[in-house]
Amino acid sequence: MQVSYLECTRCGEHLPADRPQNVCLKDAGVLFPRYDLGALKGKFRREDLRGRVASMWRYAEVLPDAAPVTLGEGVTPMLRSRECSTVYIKDEGLNPTGSFKARGMSAAVTMARHYGLKKLAVPSAGNAGGALAAYAAAAGIEAHIFMPKDVPIANRIESEYFGAHVTLVDGLISDCARMVSERKEREGWFDVSTLKEPFRIEGKKTMGYEVAEQLDWKLPEAIVYPTGGGVGMIGMWKAFEEMQQLGWIGSERPKMITVQAAGCAPIVRAWEEGKGASEMWTGAETFAAGLRVPKAYADYLILDILNKSGGAAVSATDDEILGAVRHWASVEGVFAAPEGAASLVAYRKLLANGFLRAEDTVVLFNTGTAYKYLDMMQAQEKTTLASQRNAPGTRNIGGIIGPY
Ligand SMILES: Cc1ncc(COP(=O)(O)O)c(C=O)c1O
Ligand SMILES: [Zn+2]
Repeated sequence: MQVSYLECTRCGEHLPADRPQNVCLKDAGVLFPRYDLGALKGKFRREDLRGRVASMWRYAEVLPDAAPVTLGEGVTPMLRSRECSTVYIKDEGLNPTGSFKARGMSAAVTMARHYGLKKLAVPSAGNAGGALAAYAAAAGIEAHIFMPKDVPIANRIESEYFGAHVTLVDGLISDCARMVSERKEREGWFDVSTLKEPFRIEGKKTMGYEVAEQLDWKLPEAIVYPTGGGVGMIGMWKAFEEMQQLGWIGSERPKMITVQAAGCAPIVRAWEEGKGASEMWTGAETFAAGLRVPKAYADYLILDILNKSGGAAVSATDDEILGAVRHWASVEGVFAAPEGAASLVAYRKLLANGFLRAEDTVVLFNTGTAYKYLDMMQAQEKTTLASQRNAPGTRNIGGIIGPY
């Protein structure tokens, strides 16, 4: 559908959607595309989805009206856990380029081509760069990608094969972001950074539509989402609001649960301290590369969603995450990215402390495939084994631990 306008999530300002925009010109707030959902209500119905294309573009009426740049992203499996029948694993590892980032980049590159942009730039923890590179290749657009020099090797190699210009940075994604913003004007790049570009979220929100559709329009009690920049979580929340306006669901919402790596948990810290924004995390370190985001641009939106949904924020150590990767692989046949496996760690902690009940239907997001992290996992196994040798009596590499 035609986007009516872009709305600032801080001050409510409207910006026109007929030209490329980044953030609100008044206060740098994140911009959300808005549609005339009132006009769609009753015309776009849940039943209309039957028989449509098996990609995120099946939700075309609530996506921007432009010719899609698509590689078949979305409509990923919703797997019922073999260990616990109330738990589902939403396996985003099956997307093009092996992560949920494909959804956002399909939408962003679609709009970039629609606007006639020729050069895109992005700072990336890894998977967003790989995804941009693929969609830019498909669209015949130049991509400039800035990644930390210790990203998973797959991210660097895929980006180069897709023909992107890759710069490896001695620093974190925040340093990469600074380099993009310093150079973009001179180079004529359009910045497609997480939440500084309004359409990545439109791709990501389709995960929310899919959760509802795949669970037959009954939302789960909780959704656990590995949170770096937070677009996945923010996008799904937007989808729930839209679906309510369309009359597809009621006012019920899942508890939204953020999981972060213990070595970089700015949202968890802010949540525990009851703050509305996070502080830059110093010394960020985790092998879950996508969670190495020391400060989320839209932290205020993430924390607001945790609040409104009655959710929680939980951290997982790298040892726990590696154990969870191994556990899911051996029990479920799902080879999850470390970020995704962190969802299992969070679920177990929240069951143990009584926040979730065993009978609650819970969707755990596996946001990517472990096949892109083999180098990181090998290194982490060595670290985990060494730490266990130093602390005899604990051993958790073979799969943590205990029943659900
Ligand atoms: C596999 C994976 N999971 C989760 C995330 C975090 O995503 P977001 O920045 O949308 O919170 C990333 C980001 O790079 C990722 O690659
Ligand atoms: Zn604003």
